Amino acid sequence: MKGIIFTEFMDLVEDKFGLEVLDQVLDGAGDEGVYTAVGSYDHRDLVKLIVKLSEITELPPETLQQVFGQSVFNNLYSTLPNSASLHECKNSFQFVRLVEDYIHIEVKKLYPEANPPKFEFISESETELVFDYKSARCMSHVCLGLVQGCADHFNEQLEIAMDDQSSNNSHVRFHLTLV
Ligand code: HEM
Repeated sequence: MKGIIFTEFMDLVEDKFGLEVLDQVLDGAGDEGVYTAVGSYDHRDLVKLIVKLSEITELPPETLQQVFGQSVFNNLYSTLPNSASLHECKNSFQFVRLVEDYIHIEVKKLYPEANPPKFEFISESETELVFDYKSARCMSHVCLGLVQGCADHFNEQLEIAMDDQSSNNSHVRFHLTLV
């Protein structure tokens, strides 16, 4: 998994919980915390950090994943090149499609070892988008947070329902409703 995800995570922990908690998380996970944005690391190390943070803060790991996704959206967005398709994108539904059809594909071209999730679109109307999140990394709550961050970015309010189609969050159906 790309280092930018790790560096963003550590920045967020420091911002929200302080340097001392970040140190405890790294110590507890047996992690030196040496990540660079362009490096590549085992995604299980991120899971370990989230689990440690959850133990220390007594917040559920799902909540931490979600908060992380929501706050990381803008930083990921700001790394995007100025392309025409990005400018044409006016709302969250279009953006989620762009992530699947363009952004995550570019991520894979740039970093062959990266492995972003797959979205399969089930149905769409003006006010509803249904898609399946599929990833062996089971980070559907990061996905939830990113979609919320995306809606914030476009000044939209979305109701988001998640329906686990697997037993481990590797396949989750997202129902987005514009309110
Ligand atoms: C609505 C917006 C987005 C959603 C829902 C989304 C979803 C996700 C999720 C859930 C992951 C975690 C890995 C997994 O679950 O398998 C991920 C990874 C990633 N995403 Fe996105 N993403 C979004 C926007 C973006 C943007 C704007 C970028 C900009 C470059 C981006 C680049 C990446 C990268 C680099 C990874 C790490 C992949 C790896 O190293 O294996 N994503 N994305």
